[in-house]
Amino acid sequence: MDAAHFRHVVGHLASGVTVITTDTGDIRYGMTASSVTSLSADPPMMLACLNNSVPTAGAVTSSGRYAVNVLGDGQGELARQFASPSTDKFRGVAVHPGTLGLPLLSDALAHIECEVAERVTGGTHTIFLGRVRSATAGNGQPLTYFRGGLGRFAFARDDEVYGRARELVLSRAYAADETLPLEDLAERLGVDQAAAFYALTRLSSDALVRRDADRGYVIAPLDVRTSDETFDARHAIELGVLSIIIGATTDDEIAELRRRFDAMAALLVGERFVDFHGYLDANYALHEYLVSLARNPLLTATFGRLGIKNVMTRSFGVTPETSQKFVEAQRHLIDGVAARDLEAARRGAVEYCELAKQRVREIIAAAGGSI
Ligand SMILES: Cc1cc2nc3c(=O)[nH]c(=O)nc-3n(C[C@H](O)[C@H](O)[C@H](O)COP(=O)(O)O)c2cc1C
Repeated sequence: MDAAHFRHVVGHLASGVTVITTDTGDIRYGMTASSVTSLSADPPMMLACLNNSVPTAGAVTSSGRYAVNVLGDGQGELARQFASPSTDKFRGVAVHPGTLGLPLLSDALAHIECEVAERVTGGTHTIFLGRVRSATAGNGQPLTYFRGGLGRFAFARDDEVYGRARELVLSRAYAADETLPLEDLAERLGVDQAAAFYALTRLSSDALVRRDADRGYVIAPLDVRTSDETFDARHAIELGVLSIIIGATTDDEIAELRRRFDAMAALLVGERFVDFHGYLDANYALHEYLVSLARNPLLTATFGRLGIKNVMTRSFGVTPETSQKFVEAQRHLIDGVAARDLEAARRGAVEYCELAKQRVREIIAAAGGSI
């Protein structure tokens, strides 16, 4: 087995991130380690796999003790600091002595102090089996490590609760500008306040709710200005993208654009959406793909942050009635790209943007100014 291939594959095994600390009299040692796990509950034991070439491994062997400091999700910098060789790894780090006197990182999510019970050699590493002598945990979310990158952990349950909260807001269970108290949302969803709070923070980054200094979370009303700004921003991005990609797209990319366009067009039959959410997803997938053809991840991410789906859901989503003109305008856009005709593609983009803004204006006017 090729080592690089193995590293790539095993990177799919997500883990937490710890800093293993120890000391040998005057000198403190520490290193970032993810190959750390609990071993048995009775007796309580841990194991840590440390590379023999790292000074901390030798120090654990001579001290016979180590502490596992479990890092929280805001401690990526600390993970990097303890993963780089330095004569002063603990620079700027708050530390306090544990029960065994080991240096503990004060802001870590949890601390577990161990005495080495056994050492096992495995390849380049030593597995230190440790008897747990003290263990404490605080509150917070853990730092995680996956495919060579640091990240955050999310409960699957939180995503599900967020999905239901989003449905509530989009289905207008609350009126525009109404306050959305945390306790009320938690009760309506039948979940604890932590899960409801997580949902509120996601809804606020979706711009569906906003935080008001006096009233707390309120339902963000959708008005003509917000809608115009969102569609104009998409339009500006797409015009820029068109001037970058015209003539630079491959036949395969144009075929993929057409495939996405056809998938979307099939969901708007006559003057009606046959499946609004399906249409919305397909429409988004088409435009996101168009933007991605500029091969600029920052641009694609910026496009994602416009919240275009929210504006469309809260406006077009209120009625199945729509118009074939939307499909036609987007056909002109795609045809222009396929023909490598910048002017034709731009005309399609302008037509589509104006149609969208006009339609939202009609829907908002019919609802009395904001929805
Ligand atoms: C997220 C992460 C996890 C790591 N996990 C381990 C590990 O489990 N065992 C290990 O020996 N080194 C691991 N390392 C590498 C060590 O932290 C790195 O070799 C460190 O520089 C060693 O300390 P030194 O600077 O004193 O040599 C990891 C590094 C990172 C960034």
